[in-house]
Amino acid sequence: MGITREVLLWGSRNQWLADQLTSRDFTRRAVERFMPGEEMNAGIDATESLRQNQITTILTLLGENVTAAAEADAVVQHYLQLLERIREMAFETDISLKPTQLGLDLDFEETYGRYETLVRRAAQLSRTVAIDMEDSSYVDQTIDLYRRLRADNTNLALCLQSYLYRTTSDLVTLLPLAPTIRLVKGAYKEPRQIAYRRKKDVDDNFLRLTDTLLQEVKSGTGTKVFFGTHDPRIIYEVIARADRLGLPKDAYEFQLLYGIQRELQMRLAAEGYRVRVLISYGASWFPWYMRRLAERPANVLFLLRNLLAN
Ligand code: FDA
Repeated sequence: MGITREVLLWGSRNQWLADQLTSRDFTRRAVERFMPGEEMNAGIDATESLRQNQITTILTLLGENVTAAAEADAVVQHYLQLLERIREMAFETDISLKPTQLGLDLDFEETYGRYETLVRRAAQLSRTVAIDMEDSSYVDQTIDLYRRLRADNTNLALCLQSYLYRTTSDLVTLLPLAPTIRLVKGAYKEPRQIAYRRKKDVDDNFLRLTDTLLQEVKSGTGTKVFFGTHDPRIIYEVIARADRLGLPKDAYEFQLLYGIQRELQMRLAAEGYRVRVLISYGASWFPWYMRRLAERPANVLFLLRNLLAN
């Protein structure tokens, strides 16, 4: 893992830095590259413009590690309103939430109940709820949440990370549930005892997990797969492997973050692949933004250029 990534991921958990940076105009302007705004309407407007390019979206309110049940309840209310807006606009937009945004640090059962409320409402509107995967200390509980929710609901996706060694066996134990999996590389700072550090190893594991998932899709077990990556090499390798299995373009989906690799997003959609863009909005963007910077040193240079220009 590069030193820049280490430092940025450390910084993502530093409150002093959060207070310093979130109050500065230049940081806010740099963040706009990845986030259409802090309000729900910004996400709705961005969805409307992407729709014109055959790109659907996933909306997510930024926030994590809430420290009071009332905060988690307010998050549920926010998402219920959001689902209502999605219904009014007739969007094919899904939602995505972090377990700790719904109170996983406080109480497992209550977190489960909050997800259940949202999953049931989303099902009435034929929309899917995705469970994000946070750092490795939450993986067991997050998988438990998914298992229990999946027992009664199909409109549910789970994110798995290819940098974790354990993901191979986690996937094997999940396959009997005919899961919907969003496969990503992983965005947190993890020790080498449990996670691949070298990009090549993370990528190789991503492709091994891809093979398992595409094979399941081909077998018609009901398993679905979303590939959450901006990596053109990986994306075209996924397509080549799916083609070799004879899978049609709509048998899987690519998911990318708002503002990242926009041309690639457009190109894939124009080529007939299913593309969904995850749009984050909200005031609690600091740790999330630091993780985006850690993914790409060029983004740090962009921020520094803005800093020097002010
Ligand atoms: P990677 O970082 O390996 O870079 C490979 C190549 O991709 C680069 O060389 C460049 O070409 C391109 N690229 C990558 N980032 C870019 C950027 N910022 N700008 C321009 N080009 C870029 N993580 C997690 O731990 N839990 C989760 O729940 C999720 N959820 C999630 C949903 C969706 C829809 C996406 C797209 C991603 C996530 N992630 C996530 C984040 C994920 O784990 C990972 O950190 C990032 O996607 C970065 O890895 P990539 O595979 O995109 O490329």
